Amino acid sequence: MAAAAIACERAPCADVHHYDFFSWAESTNERFDCAAGNPPFIRYQTFAGDTRKRALRLCRDLGVWFSGLTTSWAPFLVVTASLLRPGGRMAFVVPASIGHAPHAAPLVEYLVGRFDEVRIVAVRRKLFPHLSEDCWLLFADGFGGATDHIQFVPVERFDDTLACCPAKLVSVDEWRHDWNRRLRPYLLSRAERSLYQEAARSESCARFGEIASVGIGYVTGDNEFFHLRPSEAEHWQIPQRYLHPTVRNGRALPSQALASGTVDEWFQSDKPVLLLRLPKDADLPRTVRKYLDSPRGQAARCAYKCRNRKPWYSVPDVRVPTFFLTYMAGAAPSLVRNNAAATCTNALHAVDLHKDEDADRLVHGWQSSCLKLSCEIEGHPLGGGVLKLEPKEAARLLLPSPGSALPVGFEREACNAVSTLRKWRHCDQSADERYVVSAPQLVSKTRRLEWSPDSSAFGAEPFRDLDYSIRLSE
Ligand SMILES: C[S@@+](CC[C@H](N)C(=O)[O-])C[C@H]1O[C@@H](n2cnc3c(N)ncnc32)[C@H](O)[C@@H]1O
Repeated sequence: MAAAAIACERAPCADVHHYDFFSWAESTNERFDCAAGNPPFIRYQTFAGDTRKRALRLCRDLGVWFSGLTTSWAPFLVVTASLLRPGGRMAFVVPASIGHAPHAAPLVEYLVGRFDEVRIVAVRRKLFPHLSEDCWLLFADGFGGATDHIQFVPVERFDDTLACCPAKLVSVDEWRHDWNRRLRPYLLSRAERSLYQEAARSESCARFGEIASVGIGYVTGDNEFFHLRPSEAEHWQIPQRYLHPTVRNGRALPSQALASGTVDEWFQSDKPVLLLRLPKDADLPRTVRKYLDSPRGQAARCAYKCRNRKPWYSVPDVRVPTFFLTYMAGAAPSLVRNNAAATCTNALHAVDLHKDEDADRLVHGWQSSCLKLSCEIEGHPLGGGVLKLEPKEAARLLLPSPGSALPVGFEREACNAVSTLRKWRHCDQSADERYVVSAPQLVSKTRRLEWSPDSSAFGAEPFRDLDYSIRLSE
């Protein structure tokens, strides 16, 4: 209510409604020449209940189908547009995810099908420095019309020169078919985009999904209970056959291959890396049942995932992948060969080859600049300098074959393109260098340094409260 009172004070002549927007939109007969605002960015987990049901239903009635993973801002914009008079316009602050999120695509489709002009201004420097979310601007004019292109305006900062910045004309057809309905690739130059498309179409490259399948690791429901230390396994006398070595997160992994020697080291240092892997329908030994009935087991069976599966103690989808893929990274994700027959949690992606003989091709392609560019184009920024690859995005990655002839000039353009896209997602590579410079005693010993503690990546939501100690090689 305080916000409504402030609004009334600031705009005494205005009608101020203190109400759920979607309920109001559903019942009002008012129509507007212009709409402007900053919609709520509420993630799908919290954009729930009646508000969400109403929002999605209103959008469906307008012919826009959002999936269950939609963030609130996109339905807000669709419903707002529907309240405009013919010829009306709107201007909104939008999250930069309008450039890549799956739920942005139905919105952009709606806009280009309903407005004469759609202009999206991508602002590299943060509009709201205290938010991890980057914000862009959306302008749409001429409600009731349609357009076959989007005016895309990448700018360094938000200032008064913005209105005169030239727009790149993005063909809606190209955006749909060549770029998987994403605008982020248009942060690159035409030459860079053309080379990437040329590589994608050439015989020299394959999509990751043609060579391998990518899935998520298992979900226990209670990691503390299901991951035992060797000393705990011994204490509870859990038989070996019910324990499987596992990788709990990407930080535990070496950079290229996980050897059984590394797993042995984890055992020696008594790390909680033994997954309790119980079959669904076996007669369990008395010692195992004792562990299940311990106070920790009593607590674990109440966890959401555990109480929703039968039996609660049998963790599903445990597999031994050929490779692990770290799917949240500062600079680039890592592909690590599993030479230790370990399994992994859903903190990693599990990769299996369609044909065993393609392992070297995958490893070779992973080092290429083509793949690095592909991660930037097919993955998405998560805020705080972090890049995330969903399994579907990983399947689209572009892998060159060994000895393949990529288009002339590809290497140079790809490196430039990678650094442009990293700059846009605030991945500051110099942070790693700064750290190495400030800790020369570590240089010769550091096996893999992921981020400097100064890096903005540390501020990102998924990484808060995690222990980011530096790992040293032996
Ligand atoms: C990003 S803030 C913008 C606030 C203000 N317009 C500004 O620019 O400072 C989004 C606002 O939408 C409000 N909001 C969230 N869900 C809403 C809903 N269903 N109906 C109306 N307002 C809502 C939030 O409380 C929040 O104040």
